[in-house]
Amino acid sequence: MEVIIVADAAEGAREVADVFERVVRDAGPVVLGLATGSSPIAAYQELIRRHREEGLSFADARAFLLDEYVGLPAGHEQSYHRFIRENFTSHIDMDDALVLSPDGGAADPAAEAARYDRSIGEAGGVDLQILGIGSNGHIAFNEPGSSLASRTRPVVLTESTIADNARFFASREDVPQLALSQGLGTVREAREIVLTATGENKARAIAQMVEGPVSARWPGSALQLHPKVTVVVDEAAGSELE
Ligand code: F6R
Repeated sequence: MEVIIVADAAEGAREVADVFERVVRDAGPVVLGLATGSSPIAAYQELIRRHREEGLSFADARAFLLDEYVGLPAGHEQSYHRFIRENFTSHIDMDDALVLSPDGGAADPAAEAARYDRSIGEAGGVDLQILGIGSNGHIAFNEPGSSLASRTRPVVLTESTIADNARFFASREDVPQLALSQGLGTVREAREIVLTATGENKARAIAQMVEGPVSARWPGSALQLHPKVTVVVDEAAGSELE
């Protein structure tokens, strides 16, 4: 794991965008793995700027989202399907039909999860995956206790994740309790990973991910088993690293 400690969110965004730009420019048709949540937003804004001002093109790219809430109506403002369009993909030249996510409205969530996992493989796998991390160490929605080999599946969100995400909803009761999430085994198959985090409430999760034992207790630690991971954190998120 390479850890880059940055002075502020703008510098972090440039570091993450540099990784994206290298992969997108070098790899021809490329498969991107996209995260939602607040952590990647600054990097997405920097990539949108590079698209508009520097001609960075995503015309040959396709994308798979990490996860989706179960049970939100299609088009709900907090669905990840909508979030990624509003915050990234509708502002660049990626074909909207190739921005894929698990269907949180599927009648059979387990079958949908298996179908989604297969479709990533059929696309040739993910070339570059961007990740955030939960304050409890979750990666995608692989909560503590998730198998390090897990595949895309329905998952129950923990109280801590529901509390963290309540800020996006009218009330805590409105946060879905179930999601479809790529598994830790699925995420680890990406050929390259860049993870970004800011703020003190991520410090413990970052320290456990980078320096702790590899353990389902801190799902991020599974990334220690991956050969090509860049971690971009500000000083607060890196403050518990030794
Ligand atoms: C988002 C995702 C989550 C978030 C994590 C951090 O697709 O899978 O693992 O990356 O919950 O969220 P933020 O960035 O909002 O702190």
